[in-house]
Amino acid sequence: MRKRNSLRIMLDLMILAKEELSDLIIAIIAGIISFLSSTGIAVFAALLIVQSAGLISISFTRIVWLMAIFAFIRGITRYLEQYLNHLVAFKVLRMLRDKVFAAVRKLAPAKIEVSNKGELISMITGDIELIEVFYAHTISPISIAIICGSIYLVLISIFSPIIALITLLAYLIMGVGLPLIFSKWAKNTGRALRQEIGSLNNIFLDILRGITEIMQFAYHDKAIRLVQKSNQSLVKKQANLIEQLALLLALEDTIVVLTTGIVVLIGIKTGLAWSILLPLTFGIFFSFPAIANVASLGNGLSQSLACGERVLNLLEEEPVANEVTDGVDLNLVNELADPIIKIDNLTFAYDEQPVLQNFNLEISSGEVLGIRGESGCGKSTLLKLVMCFWPVYQGEILVAGHPVEEINTQSLWHNISYMTQSTEFFEGTIRDNLLIAKPHATDQELKDALRKASILEFVESLPNGLDTALTELGDNFSAGERQRFGLARCFLEDTKILLLDEPTSNLDVLNENIILNALKRNQADKTIIMVSHRTSSFKICDRIIQMSE
Ligand SMILES: Nc1ncnc2c1ncn2[C@@H]1O[C@H](COP(=O)(O)OP(=O)(O)OP(=O)(O)O)[C@@H](O)[C@H]1O
Ligand SMILES: [Mg+2]
Repeated sequence: MRKRNSLRIMLDLMILAKEELSDLIIAIIAGIISFLSSTGIAVFAALLIVQSAGLISISFTRIVWLMAIFAFIRGITRYLEQYLNHLVAFKVLRMLRDKVFAAVRKLAPAKIEVSNKGELISMITGDIELIEVFYAHTISPISIAIICGSIYLVLISIFSPIIALITLLAYLIMGVGLPLIFSKWAKNTGRALRQEIGSLNNIFLDILRGITEIMQFAYHDKAIRLVQKSNQSLVKKQANLIEQLALLLALEDTIVVLTTGIVVLIGIKTGLAWSILLPLTFGIFFSFPAIANVASLGNGLSQSLACGERVLNLLEEEPVANEVTDGVDLNLVNELADPIIKIDNLTFAYDEQPVLQNFNLEISSGEVLGIRGESGCGKSTLLKLVMCFWPVYQGEILVAGHPVEEINTQSLWHNISYMTQSTEFFEGTIRDNLLIAKPHATDQELKDALRKASILEFVESLPNGLDTALTELGDNFSAGERQRFGLARCFLEDTKILLLDEPTSNLDVLNENIILNALKRNQADKTIIMVSHRTSSFKICDRIIQMSE
């Protein structure tokens, strides 16, 4: 994982938000006016006191009127600042979610197969939300602090250059010193915290996936201990962060009080009139919130930046196999390719672990080929390589005479159906789930596909037929029904090549026969490669090969 410094992360995040710049600038201007007016109100309050003491001769009502006007301005600009800052943040977050999804899609399936899904989930849900802190509560506070701080200092220096100097020093300690010290400190805590949340998610997801195994093997105590351990370490990291926050707040208050005290002392020593010193002191005391906003950034910001870093890294990650868009399109209907698939001297390894070595295979058009072999010998890997999920480094896989990495990925996937031992469904109706395979299919086409897959009767027996929502059925599909739906999708897509990775391994003999018969009836003009462990599955095959390690 690439590590960047805070400045780099902020810059990269800013580049992502460049389209929202105009709103951001308006938010900053509103924020500046808002802070200036609130400090103004404090100065007027001091003037009221000075006036009551008879030290100046400005009309009391005029000051009150000015205070009211400033309060009004403060209200409106504060609203505008908060509204626009959040609007910008949420717009950017929406864009980030889209980008993360696109990145995940680009990296899939190879990356998703090996990476931790829990971390991806915490990234999409938690991390992106936390980046809000950066867009809504970082850029404008920093800009506001710099501009307001400068205006305050110029105004103070008109009355007392030495007090302006003291104030500048206090601003620097609070606005630069504290954030620098704390952000470094909090950044590590923030990063560790985000990682811990990700790993807790992973543990939960793992436990959910394996809940039956946990029950069956009395793994319960160990699983609970795992959760407890991760939970404990999470709380510890959260406590660290809170300790830092408390210390920071205490330091901020100390700086404000000390500075105000010193200002009063110097004012008296230099013989500044009370009619000036009092409003000046009030103004300085109430000028600190604009600067303190930057000092408190470190904490929320550190987490926000840690999340930003993770999201940026994901966006920049290179897929294992790049999508091909400048290659050839397959046209298996007209191209008379024989062999339709040719595997030539293929050698493949995940990382260092070799899986396939000098593997050769030719499959004729229309052939039904069965592949068997020991578990782990690389049968599934072979099918994934034909689908181009992983890149071929050594040797060649040719589909209709074209090396797979020269075929446009979309065209490859539209010409080959790939089905594994479990079929997944998405939210929506049965129709929605079938249309994935052919978006504009008519109901008649859907029914034909269902009939071919021997599942039409079942669908028609449901009260809402094709419109039955999957949530209504939940996981109530049996394994056999799920696989028949999977097969219906393949028939609907109507590709010339079918890759089946143990399509019947979860099924009983009866259901296996239904699937096999469905395949047999519809195999005309299709080339099928079926991986299986069961001899019974191979009865529809024209040829069976044995793979060995
Ligand atoms: N994404 C991956 N990263 C690293 N190694 C992997 C990955 N997928 C599979 N392997 C390893 O590659 C080898 C071949 O796996 P593959 O899934 O192709 O075997 P298989 O023949 O389909 O086995 P089975 O019959 O059990 O399904 C195995 O040793 C497996 O552990
Ligand atoms: Mg396999």
